[in-house]
Amino acid sequence: MRTPLVIGNWKLHGSTAEVEALISALGAKSGVETAVCPPYVYLSQARGLLAGSAVGLGAQNCAAEKSGAFTGEVAAAMLADVGCEYVLIGHSERRTLFAETDAHTVAKVGQALDAGLQPVLCVGETLEEREQGHTLDVVLGQQNAVLDAFTAEQLGPLVLAYEPVWAIGTGRTASAEQAQEVHAAMRAKVSEYSQHLADGVRILYGGSVKPGNAQELFAQPDIDGGLIGGAALVADDFMAICQAANGGSA
Ligand code: PGA
Repeated sequence: MRTPLVIGNWKLHGSTAEVEALISALGAKSGVETAVCPPYVYLSQARGLLAGSAVGLGAQNCAAEKSGAFTGEVAAAMLADVGCEYVLIGHSERRTLFAETDAHTVAKVGQALDAGLQPVLCVGETLEEREQGHTLDVVLGQQNAVLDAFTAEQLGPLVLAYEPVWAIGTGRTASAEQAQEVHAAMRAKVSEYSQHLADGVRILYGGSVKPGNAQELFAQPDIDGGLIGGAALVADDFMAICQAANGGSA
């Protein structure tokens, strides 16, 4: 049985006051693993506010290198040091706006694993790629880059997130069937590397998840939770989505 996981990706939002207000309004939901990913500068503040809570902490990115002359970068080991358990890697905004390639995601996953973090590898196709029938080529290509670079044992902590680029922040969600089709293909591909890894790996869906569509998405057999952007900035919405990941029961 895979424990559902719901992660809030706060992106470039927040202030000390907003971090305090938002985290104070969050609580853990039984049967669901939850985490929030504030901007780097608020991680330590968030860690303090989350003390004693079952809500976990993650970062939105990490450096591809361990340490050295890389001005402006933050290492995975530093994230672990300030109390992170997860790190998002290869979010489509990183890939498209910051020119991250599969080589970067592979290096970052390696750093995250070395630091004892759970890397959350984000994959997804653009609208154009979907319309041209390339969805699975793109998604599985991004996924295989990482699967090819590590052993199944090393990848035990890996989390996958399918985030169709056309559904992120657009209010346009993949239908439950569209998402399930891709998630099933992702899991089938992982099983070619390791059946054990395929059975255990959580595959999250992300892209305009809201309280109103979460339950149908999470009811799909290969959707193990969500990566939530906009709705994670509204405590009640995020909590309702976490509840939906537990089949709707509190
Ligand atoms: P969204 O973002 O929920 O605002 O669409 C999801 C994400 O980018 O992780």
